[in-house]
Amino acid sequence: MNHTTNRRKFIVEATLVAALALASWFSSAAADKPPVPGRTPARIILTWTGDPTRSQAVTWRTDTSASSPQAQIAPLTPKPKFQDSTLTVKGTATPVALPEGKSAAQYAVEFQDLKPATKYAYRVGDGSTWSEWNVFQTASTRPDPFRFIYLGDAQNDIHSLWSRAIRAAYAAAPDARFMIYAGDLVADGFDDHLWGEWCEALGFISAMVPSLPVPGNHDLHRAPDSTETSDPLLTPPSWRQHFALPMNGPESLRGQSYYLDYQGTRFIALDVNAFGGTIQPNSAKERVAQQEVAWLEKLLRDNPNRWTVVFSHYPVYPIAKQRTRFVEMESRLVPLYDKYHVDLVLQGHDHSYGRTHKLRGGKVVSDSEAGTVYTVSVSGPKMYEVAPLNPELFAKTLAGSQLFQIISVSQERLLFQAYTIDGSLIDSFDLRK
Ligand SMILES: [Fe+2]
Repeated sequence: MNHTTNRRKFIVEATLVAALALASWFSSAAADKPPVPGRTPARIILTWTGDPTRSQAVTWRTDTSASSPQAQIAPLTPKPKFQDSTLTVKGTATPVALPEGKSAAQYAVEFQDLKPATKYAYRVGDGSTWSEWNVFQTASTRPDPFRFIYLGDAQNDIHSLWSRAIRAAYAAAPDARFMIYAGDLVADGFDDHLWGEWCEALGFISAMVPSLPVPGNHDLHRAPDSTETSDPLLTPPSWRQHFALPMNGPESLRGQSYYLDYQGTRFIALDVNAFGGTIQPNSAKERVAQQEVAWLEKLLRDNPNRWTVVFSHYPVYPIAKQRTRFVEMESRLVPLYDKYHVDLVLQGHDHSYGRTHKLRGGKVVSDSEAGTVYTVSVSGPKMYEVAPLNPELFAKTLAGSQLFQIISVSQERLLFQAYTIDGSLIDSFDLRK
């Protein structure tokens, strides 16, 4: 062949390769159509209802009801052509009635039979309109080191001002295995618009990092003109629709108080709305409190984990100015924390930061003794002045700043670091075993 023939052959081959590449690109692009307004999955939130080593739950929302809600999952691979290895899981749908005659739908799926310590890609949708492929990681069956994020109340100006706190937290610890929310996620749990703000502030973060929330007083809050007649200790439907949580709590508070064992640590979400606060005492409230104490004691007594972390909303030792004591928590919860050596109690409600020394029986003990550290924090913009009722118990307090906390856990050491949202480390301590 002469030079001209060779050149023609090269051009034909190059054109063929380009055409095939283009055809392949078009076919893969066609498989992933652009989102359809109203049908596009939004408010995607990862949680757990079961074992974090083998399962993962996810909820999402669309503005129009999908007839066939579903999710797809595949082991994470860097190769973009993995659709052949996906598994499809059918979802459940709950219609949501909104003000002004509008409606939406919430969906839930639980991925089961997963491999421990494995990254997965997943998407949610209706079979034709899908979310992007998000990623999560299952827990290890061994007590391997991990970190998590803890946040105090978001509550106000969630879209405009809480967003920067949650994004700073994620940027500081993108490998955090989950985020603990110590109550008052929104100012009025019955207001769907506020849940929309909360999800908007998180963006893709809630689709990548599981949420572990516990209800605060505002999450149960009824507006003064509310005609809501449900049990005042029960979270609104929005709570249950957005968070698919373990139903292993006391009978009256399933999905509000719950526990989860994660790589050698027992995490207990304790809804303390029955132990004081804004809901008036009555026999129903006392019955719930009794159930909860019995449940908590059993969890603490039969606990094979090395570390124990409780998270709840009201602080056992208040720090905001003009607060009164939560006598019920001091008399009924602290003895259990002491008896069973709870390591850490993460709390909110006081719109400021506080961290106690190691305490036992309401008194400071030395670092080498068994005891519990209690913390209060805030991530949203509402701020209270600090004036602890028991200032001698506190190693550190701070008023007036939005914060996030990163907690790193290994078998030997639990490291707690508190940051203001500009990234300044304002407090740090560790516990050792
Ligand atoms: Fe609160």
